[in-house]
Amino acid sequence: MQEPRYLSKEEIDKILLSPLSQDEIERCKKDHLLVKDRDIVYMGAIAPGSIYFKTHDGREILDCTSQAWVYNLGHNNPDITYTLGLQSQITTHAWSYFLTPIRIRFANKIAEIVPGQLKGGRVSVNNSGGGWALECAIRLAMINNKKGDQFIVFRRGYHGSSLVMMGASQRLPMRFSGFGTEHWLRTFYPYCYRCPWNYKEGLGGIRDKSCNLECLEMVRQQIEMYATGNPIGCIIEPMQGPGGQIPAPVDFLMGLKEICRNNNILLIYDEAQTGFGRTGKMFATEWYEATYGKDVSPDIMTLTKAAAAGVPIGITVAKPKLRMLTEFEEHSTFSSPSLAMAACLVNIEILQKHKIPESAAKLGKIISSFIKDLSEDIPQIGDVRGPGLFIGVEFIKDGESREPHNELLNKLIHIGWKNGIFFGEQMQIMSTAGYYIQNTLKVKPPLIINDEDADMICILFEKSVKEAIKSL
Ligand SMILES: Cc1ncc(COP(=O)(O)O)c(C=O)c1O
Repeated sequence: MQEPRYLSKEEIDKILLSPLSQDEIERCKKDHLLVKDRDIVYMGAIAPGSIYFKTHDGREILDCTSQAWVYNLGHNNPDITYTLGLQSQITTHAWSYFLTPIRIRFANKIAEIVPGQLKGGRVSVNNSGGGWALECAIRLAMINNKKGDQFIVFRRGYHGSSLVMMGASQRLPMRFSGFGTEHWLRTFYPYCYRCPWNYKEGLGGIRDKSCNLECLEMVRQQIEMYATGNPIGCIIEPMQGPGGQIPAPVDFLMGLKEICRNNNILLIYDEAQTGFGRTGKMFATEWYEATYGKDVSPDIMTLTKAAAAGVPIGITVAKPKLRMLTEFEEHSTFSSPSLAMAACLVNIEILQKHKIPESAAKLGKIISSFIKDLSEDIPQIGDVRGPGLFIGVEFIKDGESREPHNELLNKLIHIGWKNGIFFGEQMQIMSTAGYYIQNTLKVKPPLIINDEDADMICILFEKSVKEAIKSL
């Protein structure tokens, strides 16, 4: 480690490590936060690389959210910490106009590991995340097809909360709307458990055997016959995360790819939540190929979240033949984030060397099957969806109506916290009346869990769900 020059180590330690006082916490909460009611102080991992984190009031919590699906290698992973220390001694920042050694290696590696028609493609990076990566994809689409500036997006989709990406996302619980809402044409997402054509056996993320993909036909018509403008791109999560852990059937994605190709529309996959091992493969796109032998790969893919194991990053990958951006079209001050690119490279190496996606596939199946079995006795568990550790559990009032059980989900999250486990929840789906649906639980722990951790998740899930039902 390099020696500090302007301050002593003790002075720096004091700034970073001195114990937090209650007075500091209260002052911040009362006077300096823009958002009210933030009570929990997250104090980091209980040990490097742990799946448990601690809070300021001394609690140790098993994290089934990976802190917004980011810490796939556990909280404060020691390999990443080491990497950051090392990279920071070389450079943390450079003009985005320059290449740097880490940027060269990073771009080469991403181009090597992405699937299908993206392989060998062009890579852009940012230090902000998924929204900015998508805005980059949108700019690329507009450069490659100057005939329009409209984009197909899907019901229940979420693509970020910048003023642009808000419009692309399903309506969000905010007191303002996104800019440029006329750029988005929203259409059907194949949500098989709640199929508008009333197929009832679309369970576990797999479509009903008798379904004829009516939703795909609606999408085709909307694009080819009824679009109000000229769509040039189509942005989709191949497996929706925030909208409720909903994988699209492979045939829907194949059909969508064909519709896009026929209409000169660039297909853009948002793999913010599915990238880097969560589904049991490095990317959801790869999962479809491995599971069904079909190449659903898009023209452009965006990545973020777990990409750099906890360091902010967004990545846009375009297939090789697309027209490129100019420097200024790609630029932002911090769009050569050395620390993040170093962390991402090491993250990829760890995932591959230790076969972590494969382990996530195996342990995810154990957890999903356990919850599925539990649903035999607990009718409020309506649908259990994977794959891998991309698990969603949908709660309902009864099997006949499948009415969403928002209240049970809410109770379960609170009781889980009391029991020492932190589960995630889908985003709120708003209606014009302000009513919302939020009934899918997310079970998405770090991918490095072992067999005992998986057992513990099952035990705490069962305990918490039973207590939550009792408390209603
Ligand atoms: C599917 C998906 N896309 C895009 C985003 C936006 O990413 P960011 O918050 O980094 O802008 C998110 C964030 O939660 C996401 O889940």
